[in-house]
Amino acid sequence: MRTSLIRTVAAVGAAALLTLGTACSNEREGAAGSDSADGKGFAKDSLIGVALPSKTSENWVLAGGLFTSGLKDAGFKADVQYAGASTTVADQQAQISSMVTKGAKVIVIGATDASQLATQVKQAKDEGAVVIAYDRLITNTPDVDYYIAFDNFKVGQLQGQALVDGMKAKKPKGPWTIELFSGSPDDNNSKVFFDGAMQVLKPLIDKGDIVIGSGQTDIKQTAIQGWKAENAQQRMDSLLTSAYGGKKTLDGVLSPNDTLARAILTSVKGAGKPVPVVTGQDSEVESVKSIMAGEQYSTINKDTRKLVAETVGMVKALQKGDKPTINDTKSYDNGVKVVPAYLLPPVIVTKQNAAQAYANDPKLAPLTK
Ligand code: BGC
Repeated sequence: MRTSLIRTVAAVGAAALLTLGTACSNEREGAAGSDSADGKGFAKDSLIGVALPSKTSENWVLAGGLFTSGLKDAGFKADVQYAGASTTVADQQAQISSMVTKGAKVIVIGATDASQLATQVKQAKDEGAVVIAYDRLITNTPDVDYYIAFDNFKVGQLQGQALVDGMKAKKPKGPWTIELFSGSPDDNNSKVFFDGAMQVLKPLIDKGDIVIGSGQTDIKQTAIQGWKAENAQQRMDSLLTSAYGGKKTLDGVLSPNDTLARAILTSVKGAGKPVPVVTGQDSEVESVKSIMAGEQYSTINKDTRKLVAETVGMVKALQKGDKPTINDTKSYDNGVKVVPAYLLPPVIVTKQNAAQAYANDPKLAPLTK
């Protein structure tokens, strides 16, 4: 139901938006070398900018290489940049400005801080470039044209459900004691993942079937700044000290991604506690190994190869003056506008379905044998 409505609205909204976007670029460029008969689009060998955040998880590491090769194979010039490890916001702002100055026709951005890019994306729009938010939404600006990502709310729901399923499999009857973790507060995805998971967990918390051992349920308390493993490990260490003295057990931990899941497991094992059910996301090599070894319970498969290929597909459509495919025009309100989105379906992975889930992934498939 939700999907069919979305599709109908999407077609209309995307058409209107695209007309606007291409009209702007035509005015400036006259679209020399464009494929399209009516002069929309831009030259086939144009520069495409890709500004990625720092390498806080494996998906970002993979994305850089895939964008470089994917855009080059499609005939474009590619400028792919990562924000540095410490001065991420300023780095990314400067990188985007430089892409605009160099005349990039499309700028794909994995935001390091959702709310700190309004000036740079305005600059991009003023120069007639199309702005695509990649994986993470850019907020508080009218100057983002499209959003492409895996369905983040669904990711959260799958994590919440996996946590419940995993705990039930180990201990059929509750109440189960858990802790909640969420991602970096400057990443728009963090709240969406958390809200998705809480949609599953909250009714069980309200009924008393699930108990939050520390009582920390507010996203401000659960957030892990910078998606950093050391921050997650520190928070878990202090929760164990303050709320899990004596024989008190911890049945599960909602972890928003694999990097944090492994840090949480390190902390729990260091404290000599039994391994709880811990969720994750990203299908990182070390986490897939941990799942196969029976430690981390679940991860999410968001195949970066697919997401990058779809994004390059969007760029190709824009180059020809065509409308990129959109399948959601209501979920991603960035505070100023609802950004037309293309969302891919995430897949939950546990030890049970890992071999099947990674069958087409040459790096992960061997780990499941
Ligand atoms: C991505 C996750 C990733 C996290 C940390 C999020 O925006 O969607 O896949 O784990 O950033 O890098």
